Amino acid sequence: MTAKPLRLGVNVDHVATLRNARGGARPDPLRAALQAIEAGADGITAHLREDRRHITDADMARLKAGIDRPLNFEMAATGQMLDIALATRPHAACLVPEKRTERTTEGGLDVVGAHDHLLPYVDQLTRGGIRVSLFIEPSREAIDAAVSIKSPVVELHTGAWCHAVETGDFVRAEREFARVAAAAAYGADRGLEIHAGHGLDYDSARRVAALPQIVELNIGHFLIGEAVFVGLDEAIRKMRGAMDAGRASAP
Ligand code: PXP
Repeated sequence: MTAKPLRLGVNVDHVATLRNARGGARPDPLRAALQAIEAGADGITAHLREDRRHITDADMARLKAGIDRPLNFEMAATGQMLDIALATRPHAACLVPEKRTERTTEGGLDVVGAHDHLLPYVDQLTRGGIRVSLFIEPSREAIDAAVSIKSPVVELHTGAWCHAVETGDFVRAEREFARVAAAAAYGADRGLEIHAGHGLDYDSARRVAALPQIVELNIGHFLIGEAVFVGLDEAIRKMRGAMDAGRASAP
């Protein structure tokens, strides 16, 4: 198959994390978003968590008003978040699981168990003109449930694969990568638009970019960390280069 263009969504949550370490207004996630777009980001992602530990309601409103690229609003499936998303009207909403005690989104949504809970959220967001994505484990069961919930998009959780690479567990890493590849192919066959993200760095983004069904990667923590050393602009340009190189090797 001919691979479609691959978009880069830059997640600016951790610019807000840094700001909130001191309070005040700096560094500003909107400034980071504008610079990311200038450097080649196709869209901006931000997660408004229930505890507001990084992105705030005001950040979300400023991002929506201040950027001229798609805004992807990451949110838990709660009534409060639904109201804010419908009022903000981002281009996309990505439904994620959220636990108060977790440091980051630890796994995909339990789309099978939470099927009936998620259904009305997908329906109301869709009717509000927002393109819905479900952040899921790379498995057939999760994809079948996403199809049944009528989500047009899924984002495959790459965290288990990236973690295995990072910890040097290469046998597990190959198994996890194979799950991502199989889920991307299966999901695309079932008519879903396929995104991927969590834990990606230059090397893993290059590799996952070679999967032709994936049309968007959402990347945050690594890019903001790299920006400390090389600047956000260079980190994003390098990421774009890694993704393009990976895409060029797609079958
Ligand atoms: N996609 C989703 C749905 C996420 O929850 C996150 C983390 O906020 C990311 C992508 C980005 O992950 P990372 O910050 O590890 O690049």
